[in-house]
Amino acid sequence: MLIVTLTLNPALDKSSSVEQLTPESKLRCSPVKTDAGGGGINVSKGIHKLGGKSTAVFPAGGATGLLLSSLLEQEGIATRALKVQGDTRENFSILETSSNLQYRFTMPGLPITVEEADACLELVAELKPDILVVSGSLPPGLPSNYYQKVAGFSKYINAKMVLDTSGVPLRAAAHEGIFMLKPNLGELSAMAGVEKLEMNQVDDAALQVVHQGMCEVVVVSLGAQGALLATKDGFEHIPAPMVRKTTTVGAGDSMVAGMIWAMSEGKSYKEMVQTGVACGSAATLNTGTELFFPADVHKLLSWIKTYGERYKYTDF
Ligand SMILES: Nc1ncnc2c1ncn2[C@@H]1O[C@H](COP(=O)(O)OP(=O)(O)OP(=O)(O)O)[C@@H](O)[C@H]1O
Ligand SMILES: [Mg+2]
Repeated sequence: MLIVTLTLNPALDKSSSVEQLTPESKLRCSPVKTDAGGGGINVSKGIHKLGGKSTAVFPAGGATGLLLSSLLEQEGIATRALKVQGDTRENFSILETSSNLQYRFTMPGLPITVEEADACLELVAELKPDILVVSGSLPPGLPSNYYQKVAGFSKYINAKMVLDTSGVPLRAAAHEGIFMLKPNLGELSAMAGVEKLEMNQVDDAALQVVHQGMCEVVVVSLGAQGALLATKDGFEHIPAPMVRKTTTVGAGDSMVAGMIWAMSEGKSYKEMVQTGVACGSAATLNTGTELFFPADVHKLLSWIKTYGERYKYTDF
């Protein structure tokens, strides 16, 4: 199964730490670590960690764009970058070591035009993917229904589209019909048109998304509660193992990476979600930039398969 990820709003993620954040005085920081970031790019990194392959397609501009591509290539991830005007954004996160709190500064994305985004789709089409993972926010410059166009395009090229985004872009694209959606609780609530769904309403809301033709498969991620899988055949809750959480940065992207990798290995939907939950939970064990360690995934997956059945929500 050929996997392609599409990241229209990529970033260079720079991270450092400082003992205490105080105004005015110079803050002496630790050496900066630079990572390639953005939804689909993180999914490609996660798939690679699990031993799978994918190609990351994204727009890139300026010196930061070149660095983004070369960081991925150094890691052994195939890339197809579309050269665009301007500089790819840099995000910055600082860990305050005295409090262990992380401060994340997210910059506006590099604006891209519809023509440039369409050229990214051309790159995707040339790769002839079986699965197209579209993840992250839309950059400035694109209409909020651009992912709807991507959904139509996916059908046209016969690729199964997996979408992980939020807000209006998610709702607009869902109306076009997508293979798989991965909303979290807040995103599913917005799709259902309510402020916040209660846990016992999640199964009905997820089934509705399927019955309304928005997707074939929906996996609702529920943080520490794991995930809910829903298809036209019904729903099932996959609990998350109890872990000592460090940060949840990258949990969603890690989960999608695990699911896509399992899918490409021919696993059932249930095993796909179990693997996704194991990767998401493994991501919470270490700081943001690492995503997850495969050894943690294997341990957590065997817990989920062995003990998971006991911890299901019975009122679902
Ligand atoms: N506190 C936690 N304990 C255990 N597992 C967790 C925790 N938080 C997240 N996870 C794991 O990560 C998966 C995805 O997390 P979550 O539901 O928070 O996604 P998300 O809101 O899309 O995340 P992101 O902010 O990265 O987009 C969960 O299904 C679960 O497996
Ligand atoms: Mg998310």
